[in-house]
Amino acid sequence: MSLPHDLPIILVGMMGAGKTTIGRGLARALGREFLDLDHELEARCGVRIPTIFEIEGETGFRKRESAALAACVARRGIVLATGGGAVLAEANRQALKTSGIIVYLRANVDELYRRTCRDRNRPLLATPNPRATLASLLTQREPLYQEVADLIVETGAMPVPTVVKTILPLL
Ligand code: S3P
Repeated sequence: MSLPHDLPIILVGMMGAGKTTIGRGLARALGREFLDLDHELEARCGVRIPTIFEIEGETGFRKRESAALAACVARRGIVLATGGGAVLAEANRQALKTSGIIVYLRANVDELYRRTCRDRNRPLLATPNPRATLASLLTQREPLYQEVADLIVETGAMPVPTVVKTILPLL
C-alpha cells in the first residue's frame, strides 16, 4: 500500500504503548523507512539513553531529544516512533503538529505496566513503584498526546498486526 502523500506518519504515546513494534509494522505495510527517535538519539550521541540520563539528567536528555525530533520530522516518506516524553516541550508539540500525521497509541496503565515491567532501559521507571509512576506520567501527558493527535487508536491487548490493519485505512 502507498499513501497519496509523503508526510511522515508519527506515533506518540506512553512507554509500553507499542510505538516501536506498531511503527515497524506500519512502515512495512506502507513500504516506508522506519525511524525510532530513541535509536536516532543514541546514534547521534554514541551512548545508550540511561547513560545520557546519568550524565546529563532528564534536562540534558530532553534537549537532545528535541534536536533529534526536529531532524526526524523534517524527513519525508517515513514512519517515526517517538519517545513517550517527546510531547512535553511546547516547541516539540508545534513541530509535531505541523510536520505529519500524528497517531496517538493509547493503552491503559495495566497494559503499559505489563509491557514495560521487565525492561531496565527506561530510567524514568527506575522507581520503587513503577506502576504508580506510569499512572502519574499518563495523567500528566494524556492531554498533551490528545493535543497533537490526528488519530487516537486504542491498542488495548490487540495484537500488533490488528492494530496496523486498524490504522492503515485511517491515514
Ligand atoms: C521516555 C520514554 C522512552 C525514552 C526515555 C524517556 C519518557 O521512550 O525516550 O526513557 O519520558 O516517556 P519509549 O517511549 O520508546 O519507551
